[in-house]
Amino acid sequence: MTLPIKGSIVFITGATGGLGQALTAAVAARGAAKIYAAGRDVSALANAPGVIPIRLDVTSDHEVDQAASIANDVTLLINNAGVNHNATFMRTSDLQIAREEMEVNYFAPLRMTRAFASPLIQSRGAVLNILALLARINFPLMGSYCASKAAALSLTQGLRGELAPKGVRVVAALPGAIDTRLTADLDVPKMTPAEAAAGILDGFEAGEEEIYVGEMARSLAERLASDAKAVERELASGLI
Ligand SMILES: NC(=O)c1ccc[n+]([C@@H]2O[C@H](COP(=O)([O-])OP(=O)(O)OC[C@H]3O[C@@H](n4cnc5c(N)ncnc54)[C@H](OP(=O)(O)O)[C@@H]3O)[C@@H](O)[C@H]2O)c1
Repeated sequence: MTLPIKGSIVFITGATGGLGQALTAAVAARGAAKIYAAGRDVSALANAPGVIPIRLDVTSDHEVDQAASIANDVTLLINNAGVNHNATFMRTSDLQIAREEMEVNYFAPLRMTRAFASPLIQSRGAVLNILALLARINFPLMGSYCASKAAALSLTQGLRGELAPKGVRVVAALPGAIDTRLTADLDVPKMTPAEAAAGILDGFEAGEEEIYVGEMARSLAERLASDAKAVERELASGLI
């Protein structure tokens, strides 16, 4: 089943970030009828025709419920907000970082999907979760981030099964490295946010359920299919 962006009413979280801004511009260019761009700092949101800024911390039940009552006509929810503290499991003083990554990367897309379910079911719309290739395999240098994205991949699969009978598509995007604030300290080849947004939306419009975005993600996914243990050992050695 394909779903064109043209004419859709999009809600995007983390719209102040590198990929969020690129996705906002890309859905506008593909003819979205309306875009709710949500972020914690409304003054940093794109001020463009057809873009409605919404103040939203995705970890707040209250703010998410408020956003859902304003944006009650959404047909495509893009759960894009994310956090990566580049933390290993053992080198942090307590569990605070791991908890925050789980809150933003796993609990928030769950909270958002539950809050926006009604208009999505009514419109037979879609949820697009922005995960990461590292949802499929742990990179110990950012172990707790990977664990939170793995939880979000499982969430995506479960929601897909639960919402399919109600006509709602649930899609995962699994990009490799993108040149944004999130990867500022990572010295690897990176896509531009515009390239990543185009790859994500091409896959979404083509009806893919798991969209591998960029050369890094596609080649790692192929190697995971042929020899997952070799990839695990390579990432454990600090290479990506
Ligand atoms: N960059 C990469 O290499 C890469 C690769 C694969 C997947 N991804 C995923 O792509 C998504 C976007 O990340 P990015 O690369 O664009 O990084 P980014 O530039 O750091 O943007 C992250 C966005 O998430 C927002 N956010 C964080 N915590 C939030 C909260 N509690 N409530 C609301 N918004 C919150 C940030 O808002 P503030 O501006 O208020 O902090 C920002 O808008 C993330 O889910 C990330 O995991 C990124």
